[in-house]
Amino acid sequence: MPWRRPRKRVERASDVKRSEEEALEQKAEHEEEDQATELAALDGASIVEAATGERDQDRGPGDLATKLRDAVSGLDLDEASAPDVASGRASRPRRPKREAVEAAASYERPLPSTSGASASSLSFSPLVEAGVDLQIEAARGLRLKNPVLTASGTFGQGVEYAELFDVSRLGAIVNKGTTPSARPGNPQYRIAETPSGILNSIGLENPGAAAVSKKYAKAWAELGVPVIVNVAGYSVADYVTVVREMEGTSGVVAYELNVSCPNVEGGMHFGCDPGLAADVTRAVKAETDKPVIVKLTPNAPDVVAVARACEEAGADGLTAINTVLGMRIDTTKRKPILGTGSGGLSGPAIRPIAVHITYRVAQAVSIPIVGAGGVTCAEDALEFLMAGASAVQVGTATFADPLAPITVVEGLARYVRENGLASIRDIIGAAQRKRAKEPETEYRE
Ligand SMILES: Cc1cc2nc3c(=O)[nH]c(=O)nc-3n(C[C@H](O)[C@H](O)[C@H](O)COP(=O)(O)O)c2cc1C
Repeated sequence: MPWRRPRKRVERASDVKRSEEEALEQKAEHEEEDQATELAALDGASIVEAATGERDQDRGPGDLATKLRDAVSGLDLDEASAPDVASGRASRPRRPKREAVEAAASYERPLPSTSGASASSLSFSPLVEAGVDLQIEAARGLRLKNPVLTASGTFGQGVEYAELFDVSRLGAIVNKGTTPSARPGNPQYRIAETPSGILNSIGLENPGAAAVSKKYAKAWAELGVPVIVNVAGYSVADYVTVVREMEGTSGVVAYELNVSCPNVEGGMHFGCDPGLAADVTRAVKAETDKPVIVKLTPNAPDVVAVARACEEAGADGLTAINTVLGMRIDTTKRKPILGTGSGGLSGPAIRPIAVHITYRVAQAVSIPIVGAGGVTCAEDALEFLMAGASAVQVGTATFADPLAPITVVEGLARYVRENGLASIRDIIGAAQRKRAKEPETEYRE
C-alpha cells in the first residue's frame, strides 16, 4: 500500500527465542501502524501525526481555524445549529478530524485575520436569541448576555473559532489553563475515546501567562465576547503570579481557578482540600478586583465542603465540574493507553455526576454556579440550570460539533419563547424548588 511507511526490521538470530512480551509488543506495533494508517485515511490526518501522535514538523504549526473549517466542511451550518425541536437535541454531529481535536486542546496556532466575515455575519435572518432575555449573573459582578460559556481546554484561546462562527453570540469564553511559565504538556497519547466521552491528559500545555497576555490581548479585545482566564499552578504563589500577569489584559473580565486538574502532578491538590482551596481563593482575591470563580473537582472526597470553604474565602462563583479521573487499557500492549496512565473523563458520560454535584453545591452556597460536564444541547443545559446553575460551559461537545455552543444558545432562546417565560432566570434552580415540596430522602441502593 503506497501510504505505508517503510519499517525498519531488527534482524535477530533464528535461535533466539522471543519472549511473550516481545511478541506482544511487535504484534501491537503492527496493529498500531494499521490503526494509524486507517485513522489517517479516515480523517485526512498526516501519517506522522496519526502514527506518532506528535505534531508533524514538516507541516509546520497547526492552524486550528483551517482544521476546524475542514472538520465542518460538508456540514450544512443551518442543519448543524438547528436543534430537533421535539427533543431539544442537536442534529447528530459528525466526528471532527483528529487533528482539530488535538489542536483545540493545545494552544499553538496563529491568530485569525479579523477581516474575514464570520459564518453568521453572512446571514441576514434575525438571530434566534434576538429579543429573548437570556441575561444571567455567572458570578458575583459578572453579568453575561446569555448563560453559555465554552469550557477551558476545549476552545483553544477562543480566537480560532472566530473564523468559524460569531463568538460574540456566546455569554463568555474560557481560555486554556494558563500557568506562570510555558508548559509543553504530557507525553502521548493524550486523548482516548470512551463510550459517551473522552479521556484526556493534555497536561496544561500553554505558553505561560506573559506570552498569553501579549499574544492574545489584541484579538480578545476585538472578539466582542468576554474572556475568562483559566488559572492553574502548583502553589498559591503560582496562581497569584498568573493573575498578576493577566491583570490589565484586554478582554479579560474574570478568573477561573483551576484547582482541579487531574492531569498534572499535584493539580487536584488544592481542589481536594477545603483549607487549601480557601487559601488560593483568598490570595487571588487579594490580587484582583475582577470576579474569581473556583472550579471544583468531582474527585474531591467532599466537594460540598470545598465549595463552602471557597465561598467563605471570598469566591464570587464556582464551576462544577472539572473532569472525572479515569483510565483505558490497551489490551494488546497490556498497558494504559494514555501516556500518563490515568486521565480526565469528560463528555455526556459525566453529565449525571456534574448535575448531581451542581444540585448539591447549590444547596450549600449562595454564590452563582457555572455547570460543566457533558453539555451538548439546550436540554442538557436546562438540566444544569434547573439544578441550580446560573450558566453552563460547553466543552467536549465542541470537538464533535464546533457549533455546539451556538446550538445551546439558540435552544435556550427557543425554550424561553415557547414556554412564555419572561427570562431564562426563571428556571434557575427550578428543580430545587419543586423538590423542596417533597420530603428529602438520601439515596440508598
Ligand atoms: C481536552 C481537554 C482539555 C481540558 N483542559 C482544561 C484546562 O486547561 N483547565 C480546566 O480547568 N479544565 C480543562 N478541561 C476540563 C473542561 O474545561 C471541563 O470542565 C470538562 O471537560 C467537563 O466538561 P465537558 O464534558 O463539557 O467537556 C479540559 C477538558 C478537555 C476535554
